Amino acid sequence: MLDIATPFSTLIRTATEQQHSEAEHSSFMRDMLTGTLGVRAFYRYTAQLWFVYDALEKRSAELAADPVAGPFVRPEIARLAALETDLAHLGGAGWRDELRPLPSTLAYADRITECAQHWSAGYVVHHYTRYLGDLSGGQVIRGTAEKLWNLPKKGDGVRFYVFDAISNPAAFKRGYRELLDGLPLDADETERVLDEARLAFSMNTDLFGELAAEFSDKN
Ligand code: HEM
Repeated sequence: MLDIATPFSTLIRTATEQQHSEAEHSSFMRDMLTGTLGVRAFYRYTAQLWFVYDALEKRSAELAADPVAGPFVRPEIARLAALETDLAHLGGAGWRDELRPLPSTLAYADRITECAQHWSAGYVVHHYTRYLGDLSGGQVIRGTAEKLWNLPKKGDGVRFYVFDAISNPAAFKRGYRELLDGLPLDADETERVLDEARLAFSMNTDLFGELAAEFSDKN
């Protein structure tokens, strides 16, 4: 039974703890971050993120004016421009022509777009799942990618993971959790939102599954 007195930031973290662990220990993440898969896999993964962040950020102006989603939409965390720099570095001048979403990526981006258009609390869940993750575990991915593929430290190729405009990530995350705790959610809406968080994580895991399948064919 849901304890509505628990801060929402705790509820959402607890509700997705198991799935976080599954995503973190997925075979694609493991094989990418141990170097079993080459930089091509990292490039392809980064290209999938382009579709996800395009969906998250393309309605930023409207969402910034939304009473629920607005406080979360901050220009200093926007990632699309950094992703494009990374993709140009990893894939060369033709990166845009090579952008091909996997079916799971399309489904994920579509779901984000649907929430952005019709359900701002749902949009916040997707925002949380990506940006708070990027500010946390994303830093592990950056360090590993730099070493494995000799990418410039905090430079092109890993700029997606570098939040230059956030001087104190721990303080930023604290503020973010306070915003989550202030969301106007009754018990029913809380349940819906937690279901959306589980969906968001499973969509990431599906994406890892498809990437793993794509690269297992090539090994
Ligand atoms: C190699 C893969 C990953 C690693 C090593 C990793 C690691 C971590 C770590 C250490 C934290 C805790 C940071 C803190 O307490 O401040 C964290 C938090 C988080 N991660 Fe990940 N993570 C990974 C993958 C993912 C994925 C795939 C997602 C979802 C797309 C994700 C979403 C999150 C979120 C939303 C949080 C914030 C939890 C909260 O405090 O509410 N992570 N991650």
